[in-house]
Amino acid sequence: METPFVPPLAELLADPHPFFSALREATPVQKVEAFMGAYVVTRHELIGPILKDTTVFSSRMMGFEQVMPQELGEDVLRYFRVEKALLSSDPPLHTHMRTLVSRAFTPRRVAELEPHLREITRELLDTMLAKKEFDLVADLAAPLPVTVIAELLGIEPEHRLDFKRWSDAIIQAASFTIRDKRPLADSIRQLQTYLESTIEQRRRIPRNDLISALVEASEAEGGFLSTLELIDFVRLLLIAGNETTTNLIGNGMVALLRHPSEWERLVADPSLIPNAIEEMLRYEGPAQSILRMTTQDTEIAGVPIPKGAQVMLLLSAANRDPRKFPEPDKFDVTRDAQGHLAFGHGVHFCLGAPLARLEAKVAFEELLRRVRRVSFAPGQEGHIAWSETFIVRGPLSLQLRAERR
Ligand code: HEM
Repeated sequence: METPFVPPLAELLADPHPFFSALREATPVQKVEAFMGAYVVTRHELIGPILKDTTVFSSRMMGFEQVMPQELGEDVLRYFRVEKALLSSDPPLHTHMRTLVSRAFTPRRVAELEPHLREITRELLDTMLAKKEFDLVADLAAPLPVTVIAELLGIEPEHRLDFKRWSDAIIQAASFTIRDKRPLADSIRQLQTYLESTIEQRRRIPRNDLISALVEASEAEGGFLSTLELIDFVRLLLIAGNETTTNLIGNGMVALLRHPSEWERLVADPSLIPNAIEEMLRYEGPAQSILRMTTQDTEIAGVPIPKGAQVMLLLSAANRDPRKFPEPDKFDVTRDAQGHLAFGHGVHFCLGAPLARLEAKVAFEELLRRVRRVSFAPGQEGHIAWSETFIVRGPLSLQLRAERR
């Protein structure tokens, strides 16, 4: 089983799909040294059953504890050492933890947010479109999700910008492509201090927000979660929904810029937008890969995998598996993209999927309502700087011009 040649990092960040496709077509499972020595699974039909089998494929590897680098220092690393963490727990603990917050994220509850979300989007667009050239990421795709999740959590408006910086610092610290992690420790410390004092305040004086709901749910069970675990939970809600949703809007825009005929189809029929969002998720999903750890010797598609091995599920490769999606490299806003794995699968299926879908839908609806055509600012085409991690994928900025209606 020979590993296909791993291209240089810059090439991989600019467009990972040729490599993902080579991996997927070479063999269903590969041990790739350049990917932390993980067994990399790329085919769609294999990933669903792995994600369903939580007994053999544990989520323990998904904890930030495992990916945080030593150089951050012991005082920071200990923040991530928690026993009860939603993303990195397995049933039955996971099932119980999820019930603490799941009610806040049902499609019905999320739909109630739509009018306010539309208001936030319109304000952002007013400012963005008043400029001759704008950065779709900084002006819309980044502030929209951070504003929404900060409001849901009950974060004071003056801390929203800090929140974005803190959340970016954690994603960067967890990334294995960023070399010097030490400068990130300060941001992580600030976030910890902020959350600790906010949780203490909500304990004393509860409000109508998600942090208060979480504190109350834990206290109703005699302090089920420690303060460190509550902070970890809130931190997850903050991080999981920020950069990913920013990248959904950013990746979607890049796909539309590169496929003007698909933009025209949305102009002609905006009711296609929800379907287009699913295609964006399939074509260039923000979460490229997730990890699991084997709890016993096992095999995947006949390949033996030892106990304690890391298994990397390349969602982005599976979403372009031609066995599941015909002509997978074609971006088609009318395609039936059902069954894509961009939000994962099984018990850890993305809790925030209804919210992310709504934010992206409103962002594109409002943009298309005001703008006839969007193009790269002169000299920008072909110069997209992509995020430097394999956890998430998206453009760091998108300098554009728009022709208003
Ligand atoms: C879980 C992707 C937006 C909260 C996940 C997982 C994926 C994912 C792939 C599964 C992880 C695993 O199985 O190990 C995405 C993408 C998003 C997005 C692509 C945007 C387009 C959001 C938003 C929130 C959120 C807006 C809001 C708070 C979560 C949480 C989990 C999760 C809490 C853990 C669920 C669990 O362990 O049971 N997400 N996510 N996500 N997501 Fe999202």
